[in-house]
Amino acid sequence: MKRLGIAVIGLGRVGRACVEAAREAGDMRLAGIVRRPEKVAQPLPEGWRDLPVAAHISELRDVDAALICVPTDSVLGTAQQLLQQRIPIVECATLEGPARDAHRDEIGRLAEHHRVPAIVGAGWECGTLPLFKRLFELLIPKGRTEITNRPGVSLHHTSAAQDTKGVRGALCTELRGANGRMQRYVYVELEQGANLDAVSRAIRSDPLFVAEETLVFQVASLAELEQGGHGILMERRGASGRAAHHTLLLEARFHAGCFTAQVMLDAARSLPGRRPGAYAYTVFS
Ligand SMILES: NC(=O)c1ccc[n+]([C@@H]2O[C@H](COP(=O)([O-])OP(=O)(O)OC[C@H]3O[C@@H](n4cnc5c(N)ncnc54)[C@H](OP(=O)(O)O)[C@@H]3O)[C@@H](O)[C@H]2O)c1
Repeated sequence: MKRLGIAVIGLGRVGRACVEAAREAGDMRLAGIVRRPEKVAQPLPEGWRDLPVAAHISELRDVDAALICVPTDSVLGTAQQLLQQRIPIVECATLEGPARDAHRDEIGRLAEHHRVPAIVGAGWECGTLPLFKRLFELLIPKGRTEITNRPGVSLHHTSAAQDTKGVRGALCTELRGANGRMQRYVYVELEQGANLDAVSRAIRSDPLFVAEETLVFQVASLAELEQGGHGILMERRGASGRAAHHTLLLEARFHAGCFTAQVMLDAARSLPGRRPGAYAYTVFS
């Protein structure tokens, strides 16, 4: 099977999540990352150093799809440049109402003009959440939907992990696993050259953590982790058919960038063989 060559445009929150997700996807190959010229020479996180980095898409080879991860107000200009080069695109701009419609129409016009396919609105907030909402409404046509945004997980500092050799900073949370048992999640930012396995072993053997299942994850930035954690509660109540009091509930805790990345990859998989034009995201795979 030929692996899909992915270019990631812009290495912010969503871009980084796309690189991580594409590296883990067995059916994808990272053709490279496009960054602003002043950022091209900036070192990449350890483990990513083999990835080609360029200031322009034309410097990358074998690109089958480009994932646009630049700020919302730069998406259209970036899309135009890529489509001009006849590169199929996926974008996820967080836009609403008439602005979103105008954005989609313009990308559609460019995609048809340059004879390339483009997928628009492939993210969480604009992309997947509306699909969940639509499905809830389909199952309970007469009813009321309430959506509450709330913090994802409550992270707290942990001096036991923080004081471990090689750890620059640590945050911890407790979640109940699928089996009902409590699990501790410890997120660590490591000192240069520190070894994650050694750090994980040291944390797990600390008296504070030894009694419970403890999972240790390395993150590039704890500040970003605190910012990115997100949660949502969506509930629809109503009547459908003969039976009354139907309820649907979606409770989610997640990093919006990571969900968006998975949706963008799903959209990219559907690009080969598509006719030119813009397509609104729906679940493809
Ligand atoms: N649909 C959803 O649910 C959803 C959720 C989150 C985000 N988004 C969308 O995803 C996109 C990226 O969001 P983000 O949170 O990852 O943003 P971000 O963290 O600000 O990152 C954007 C990246 O784009 C590059 N960049 C910055 N200024 C630029 C400019 N003027 N021109 C071109 N590139 C520029 C930078 O990468 P380099 O330093 O590598 O050049 C920057 O790190 C936005 O369009 C946002 O609307 C959608």
